[in-house]
Amino acid sequence: MVKKNACVFISGEGSNLKNLLKRSRDYNFPISIKLVVSNNPKARGVNFAKKHSIPCIIVNTRFRFFESIILNNLNKYKINIICLAGYMKIISKNFLRSFKKQVVNIHPSLLPKFKGLNTYKRILKTKEIKTGCTVHFVNEKLDGGRIIAQKSFYIMLNSNLSDLKKRTQNLEYSAYPEALIKIFRASY
Ligand code: GRF
Repeated sequence: MVKKNACVFISGEGSNLKNLLKRSRDYNFPISIKLVVSNNPKARGVNFAKKHSIPCIIVNTRFRFFESIILNNLNKYKINIICLAGYMKIISKNFLRSFKKQVVNIHPSLLPKFKGLNTYKRILKTKEIKTGCTVHFVNEKLDGGRIIAQKSFYIMLNSNLSDLKKRTQNLEYSAYPEALIKIFRASY
């Protein structure tokens, strides 16, 4: 199978990066991770990328032209799809217009509910019965692009932030790979 070249954007732990890398080793999986972008030099995912010899660029988002640097590298590595995985920076309209290819994101809620930051805290506060994760295309609206896949679970009565995160992320590890398979099978 001819795989699509993917770039994963991270800012922190990188557990979704780890999971996608593991899945991408399957010869039937539609993507191969060719590049990692991080806006945080201390992100654990950066070490992980290095350990697995995946080229990794660290961008300083205070530099006005940081997105051009990313775009140049996306060209250099012939990237077909960007997978955002905990990247804590909003992708600009200009960037989306210039890249022109697919950009997908994973969000820890059942979108359109709970867009934005501090998701788990807000979910617990509003006493939701169900929650989950969503993989969606990225457009110019925050967490607002077309939904590709969603997975959900019932929240336990005594749930706290850490178990909500753990259960959500466990679902993410199957939802993200499934969404990528769906994208390339259904050719959106
Ligand atoms: C994920 O839970 C995702 O929903 C959110 O950021 C988190 C990143 O986690 N967008 P990790 O860095 O992949 O461990």
